[in-house]
Amino acid sequence: MVKYERVRQYLAASGYTSEFLLQHFDLPSLHLLFYPVGRQGEKFAQQYRRSGTALFLARVFIGGYGESREAFREHMPDAVFDAMAEGGILEQVAGGEWQSPGLVFPFRGFFIAADRAFRGQQQLPLGRDYVAGGADPTSVEFYDNMASTPCRTLLEMGTGSGIGALLASRFAERVWALDINPRAVEYARRNCELNGVENVTAMESDLYSATDGQTFERIVANLPFVPSDENTAVFAAGGDDGERILAGFLEGCAERLTPGGRLYALVMGSDREEDGFESRIRRYLGSGGEDCDVALFARKTMTPAEFAFDRVALRNSESAALFRWVRFMEQHRIEQMVLGTLLVQRREAERPAVTLRHTLSPGATVEDMDRRLSWETRCARPDFAASILSARPTASEGWRVLTKHAMEDGKMATISHSILVTHPFEETVECAPWVVSLAARVDGERTVSQLLGAIQKQTGAPGDVLLRVFAQLAALGVAGVR
Ligand SMILES: C[S@@+](CC[C@H](N)C(=O)[O-])C[C@H]1O[C@@H](n2cnc3c(N)ncnc32)[C@H](O)[C@@H]1O
Repeated sequence: MVKYERVRQYLAASGYTSEFLLQHFDLPSLHLLFYPVGRQGEKFAQQYRRSGTALFLARVFIGGYGESREAFREHMPDAVFDAMAEGGILEQVAGGEWQSPGLVFPFRGFFIAADRAFRGQQQLPLGRDYVAGGADPTSVEFYDNMASTPCRTLLEMGTGSGIGALLASRFAERVWALDINPRAVEYARRNCELNGVENVTAMESDLYSATDGQTFERIVANLPFVPSDENTAVFAAGGDDGERILAGFLEGCAERLTPGGRLYALVMGSDREEDGFESRIRRYLGSGGEDCDVALFARKTMTPAEFAFDRVALRNSESAALFRWVRFMEQHRIEQMVLGTLLVQRREAERPAVTLRHTLSPGATVEDMDRRLSWETRCARPDFAASILSARPTASEGWRVLTKHAMEDGKMATISHSILVTHPFEETVECAPWVVSLAARVDGERTVSQLLGAIQKQTGAPGDVLLRVFAQLAALGVAGVR
């Protein structure tokens, strides 16, 4: 810790922040600076040339440019320079200049060291154990979709450079950061030291192999989920059908979660012919799955062709790769690829396990997902009816009713009603007309029991059916219940 203390203090006071970098380079996302390709790369090279300490640090620690000892002296005290050299974030190269072997960049109030893919505009060969920075949009989506409410114990599986664990160190009392790649573990440890974070333990582990019977209140992961071959770097290799690592990760999770504990994972998987992604997730959980609720929140779906084009364009592959992807999709009878956030919750008490799948609307947050899972598990509890009947649900304005009409026997007739909700989940539920009048009567004054009593008089429907319908209206957000 002491080794990096000077470096940390210096960097924190230097103005080397992500806000500065995004503004100076006019970028929407910092990770673009790590890949200076084409004209964008030339523009970066020019923008690095201006003066100022924050930009000098960016030139050295992101750009990878070498600088003389004198140049460093202009921007930092000798003691900081020496600490950087001792900590391995600067090294002297032939010709006498000093350069940074990897990246060191600011991210959400931390400084993160990781491998670099470029030095200047020159692309470097990447080893299979390459450790990516972890500031790309997929990683950011993962950080934004792991719950950040206080908890006692948290495990991050597949930590990479350790950003997830560092962010978790702010709200979890103790954090374990695991990775199969020893270089990632080294980086995660170094990044904890660099940031003075003392409540994270980074360990090399193939999935749970190093966890030793421990249990965790929260488990988070952004594991490789893209189908891969033996040439893919470890950080991205998801196994032959892309779900092999996910399957192993889920198989061990039930016994590692404390009762009531939740797992949050960024996942990509497939809906296959008569085999939805959430059904396979249940199978991957194995026998421990009986004790778990599964909630899959889809952010994006892609047809096989869209996914194949996306992979080929992203990796700049040759066109033959397109056919390999399409063959792969056909072989596994894949109908669509699903990208989203998976929540798995270990049951806290005896009750039926719940399985949900919903489509997130663009602004939906992890709090929305947490709330939905909590509500649906509350509905599954044996005391649900008793707990809800005296509540006074509040009305919401965020719903619409779609009514379909058609000509029947020469007359225009109403043939169906659907309740439509667009936020935080996109849902359309076809329903009987009395469901619409139930929803319309919710006013914050009447209790659930009064609301259901009135509808029962009108329709004669059994109480348990009415309660189920009401529970669904509350899940949709049409009625607000505490
Ligand atoms: C996509 S990267 C994510 C890194 C980081 N958490 C982030 O969000 O940017 C996946 C990470 O999982 C690790 N990993 C792959 N297979 C693993 C396994 N069997 N056990 C533990 N970690 C694994 C990789 O080494 C890599 O660091």
